[in-house]
Parts: sequence; C-alpha cells; structure tokens
Amino acid sequence: MTDFYAVIGNPVAHSKSPWIHAEFSRQTGQDMQYEAILAPVNAFPATVAVFRERGGKGMNVTVPFKLEACKLAGRLTERADAAQAVNTLVFNADGTLGANTDGAGLVRDIMVNLGFSLTGKRVLLMGAGGAARGVVLPLLEHDPSILAIVNRTQQKAHALQQQFSCYGTIVSGDYADILGEKFDLVINATSASLKGELPPLSPGIFAAESLAYDMMYGDGYTPFLQFAKQQGASRLADGIGMLVEQAAESFFLWRGVRPETGPIIKMLKLHT
Ligand code: ATR
Repeated sequence: MTDFYAVIGNPVAHSKSPWIHAEFSRQTGQDMQYEAILAPVNAFPATVAVFRERGGKGMNVTVPFKLEACKLAGRLTERADAAQAVNTLVFNADGTLGANTDGAGLVRDIMVNLGFSLTGKRVLLMGAGGAARGVVLPLLEHDPSILAIVNRTQQKAHALQQQFSCYGTIVSGDYADILGEKFDLVINATSASLKGELPPLSPGIFAAESLAYDMMYGDGYTPFLQFAKQQGASRLADGIGMLVEQAAESFFLWRGVRPETGPIIKMLKLHT
C-alpha cells in the first residue's frame, strides 16, 4: 500500500523537498508519495488533520509553521524541544512525534560530506533566530573548543548562550565583540543572504584551514561566501548539503532506511 507524506508551509511552491524525497524513494524502492501542501497561515492544525485523515504518515514542516508544529506534536525529541521548532512530524497509532532534523543535517554535511571535524575547533555561529537555535545543540554534541554566537541584537545571542551553556563552552555577543578573533568554522545562520546582505563581519575572521558555511543557498555565491572567498577561507559551502541531509534524516525517521545523499546533492548543485 502506498504511504503518503508531504511538506507543509506557506509559501511552499518553491520547496525542493518533493523532488528530493521522490529521488530517495526511487533509490530505496519505497512505496510512497510525497507532495507539497500550502496551508493558510491560520489553518495549520486543520490542514494537518485533513492530511492525517487521508492516511498521511508524516510531514515536513517549513516556514512559518515550525513553532506551531511543536504545539501540535504530542511528543518531542530532545532536539526539537531544545530548538522549540519541529521540521518533521511522524504520525503513528499512538500519536504524533515532533522532531527537528535541521541540526543533524548541518552536522552531517560538515562532518561526513565535507570531512571537517568539529572536535576541538573554534566555531562561530552568526544569528540567533530560529535557524540558529535549531543547530546549537547538535554542534555542541561534537565538542568544539568554543562556540561563539554573535547577533546584531545581542540579547538574543545571550539568551541562546544561557539556554545551552550546560552542553558546552559558549560565548555570546555582537559582531564588535569578535574583532581580532579567528575561527576554524564560521556558520551563517542569519537570514541576511536571503536579502542579498552581509552580516557586519570584520576582516581577518578566518583561521588557516577554515571552512565558511552558509546555511542559505541560491544562484552562485551568497554575499557571505563572496566575503569568505576574498578573506581567504580555505573552503566554502552553501546550504544545499544541509537541505538534502535534513531530508535524509526525516526519511530515515519515517522509513527506517538511509538514502544515499551524495548523488542528490551533486544534482542539486548542478541546477542551483
Ligand atoms: P530564522 O528563523 O531564519 O532564523 P529569524 O528568526 O527572523 O529567522 O532570525 C533572523 C536572524 O538573522 C536574526 O538573528 C537576525 O538578526 P537580529 O536578531 O539582530 O535581527 C539575523 N539577520 C537578518 N538580517 C541580517 C543582516 N543583514 N545582518 C546580520 N544579521 C541579520
């Protein structure tokens, strides 16, 4: 019997998830269908309920419903609870599980695909919104020597530091506080790239053998990756790998099978 899955969001037409999951299911021989569902902003729970009645087994949740999905889930994974954001719903007989696979996707892309070990490294995370909150715990689980969180509005960075300080060494502040500091890994978790903007970074931020990672992606280099290239960062990566890896984590939660992500990442990189 065919199982039904969907990505729910508003807007959702641009989502690459239906294509990615169709590739995963073809590759692993799963009997499933995956569609995109546009939910009115004030009707998320009702739209989810209709999908469940149709026999839906799981959903990916995207903007602006990730927080609402937390409230809808009967049970949350530790990561979804810490992030207060759910990007994956699993429907089964005993209720709805809410998970967040964004952080696992980022860490897998960095460590497995890019071969960059986080352990003992100095990591800078820019941004303190929903995207940043979802990745702090998975990053700390790999023992960087320090995680610095910077944000224009520094109170939001301090709040993240307070929330997660029991999991590792975190410092927080605004961009002026990291003047003269160097980092092995700089992650852009702000929404600046979406607007063609660059966070107010000072020159000299990249250590030798450093990786610049933008969680966003688009045509060509984002402003942050252009800056990183000019500044001599050794390696540059956009968020395509993370996108595919978070999808693979969701697929694994639903189907218990791990798809091969490499060929899918390659195909998407050719077309973006
Ligand atoms: P998301 O869920 O994508 O994280 P968000 O919660 O609206 O979206 O957060 C956006 C983040 O990008 C914030 O950290 C924001 O900084 P402020 O909290 O100071 O607003 C950051 N951001 C957006 N545009 C930026 C820019 N041009 N430079 C630096 N940071 C920017």
